[in-house]
Amino acid sequence: MEPKFVSPSVIEASNRAAARVRERLGGAKPRYYIETYGCQMNEHDSETFAGQLTQMGYVPAASKQEADLIMFNTCCIREHAELRTFGNVGFVKELKEQNPALITVVCGCMMQQKGVARRLAQRFPFVDMVLGTNELAQFPQFLERVMDGERVLEIKDTDGEIPEGLPIKRNEGFSTFVNIMYGCNNFCSYCIVPYVRGRERSRRAEDIVREVEQAVNDGFTEVTLLGQNVNSYSGFGVTFPELLRMVDKVEGLKRLRFMTSHPKDLSHELVLAMAECKKVCPHIHLPVQSGNNRILALMNRRYTREHYLSLVRDLREFVPWVEITTDIIVGFPTETEEEFEDTVSLVREVGYSAAYSFAYSVREGTKAAAMDGQVPEEVKKSRLQRLNAAINESVVGANDRYIGTRGEILIEGCDRRGEPMMFGKLPSLKMVYVKGDESMIGEYKNVLITGTRFNSLCGEIE
Ligand code: SAH
Ligand code: SF4
Ligand code: F3S
Repeated sequence: MEPKFVSPSVIEASNRAAARVRERLGGAKPRYYIETYGCQMNEHDSETFAGQLTQMGYVPAASKQEADLIMFNTCCIREHAELRTFGNVGFVKELKEQNPALITVVCGCMMQQKGVARRLAQRFPFVDMVLGTNELAQFPQFLERVMDGERVLEIKDTDGEIPEGLPIKRNEGFSTFVNIMYGCNNFCSYCIVPYVRGRERSRRAEDIVREVEQAVNDGFTEVTLLGQNVNSYSGFGVTFPELLRMVDKVEGLKRLRFMTSHPKDLSHELVLAMAECKKVCPHIHLPVQSGNNRILALMNRRYTREHYLSLVRDLREFVPWVEITTDIIVGFPTETEEEFEDTVSLVREVGYSAAYSFAYSVREGTKAAAMDGQVPEEVKKSRLQRLNAAINESVVGANDRYIGTRGEILIEGCDRRGEPMMFGKLPSLKMVYVKGDESMIGEYKNVLITGTRFNSLCGEIE
């Protein structure tokens, strides 16, 4: 099914509302502060809200205390994210007492969960606006209503439409994100994302290429293409490997990354595109979740351990120096000690350069939440600790092979713990520490790797 787009008339109405707000502010420059939780999808939405606020005449605030508008862009992927959000929204009460004109907005994935928005609005009467994940395009209209004294609660329970043509204010730096698709169709049994982000929908390839060109024009040299499962991208017949080849041609772009890849849809064509496209970095984030086939089936991941390992072999054969990172869940309902050990052995077998590990967290409304055999918290905790020990061992082991090699890093910043060192990443995502100074930030430098430092490498600029 072809995706629906937010109609151009809605985008125009939004631009007109933004212009009205700007006029109403009469040259005043109120300050906004956006606190973003969760993944890069939310970061990207926050950049769009920031773009709209800029269009309306707002400027960024250095802290919540200084802000005239505070926005919380929430996440609900695991339970603790939710608890933290409610806590942080609660703190605004004090700020509102000091500055009654303060506007408070809460939006994002968590607001899309059944009953949460209403509960939040009831508990925190000072919150002026609550939005779901499909309301981005109308934000200026909603802000206008708040300025008229109304309390706005807008959450559409739809699969969402693609908003094209909204302004974006990108976070500063040299590396940025471009969304290529929204939503998810996979319904992994533990995951809330398909419920709060709606069905999968892909942007048009030409819109993506244009956005990348724009980002390059604005000074970004590294772009990460984003989606919950980029391998199932389908922009009016264009596949993900084809899209990579198109974006790879954008002049001025130095590095192209993408995430996240679902193993069930990773094709050999993608491996070849990674190998052949000069700008595509040799890094892939390939969440495995578990190393045990029974658990993988219960998770509805639709691949086996063996298939996953065959993908790793294919990547290693065709993409020189490829680095693989992953996500892992321990303590999925009914997971036994032996099944957990399968995950540990897989971590050792693959040799990840980084692995993000999570204790399974019950998400209401998902299939796994209703499963018998929930694993006790202490068991999850102990498995997490043991898994992390295995991850740390295998990561450190894999770094030694870089010593004596050469590569190019993009200098990102300065680490001031101890003797100040500049740091930047190789295309593979490995971090390298070098001697240098802050004038180098944003530059690409050739380095010789001379040693390792914690989870990273150290080297000398050549
Ligand atoms: N679309 C990506 C993942 C997005 S969520 C993918 O399919 O790989 C990021 C990570 O959060 C997941 O990979 C998973 O490891 C973790 N996660 C998701 N739901 C979770 C839950 N209920 N409990 C614990 N971890 C979870
Ligand atoms: Fe969640 Fe699975 Fe979709 Fe990833 S692919 S967002 S884990 S349902
Ligand atoms: Fe969280 Fe929503 Fe991303 S639930 S992880 S912010 S898609």
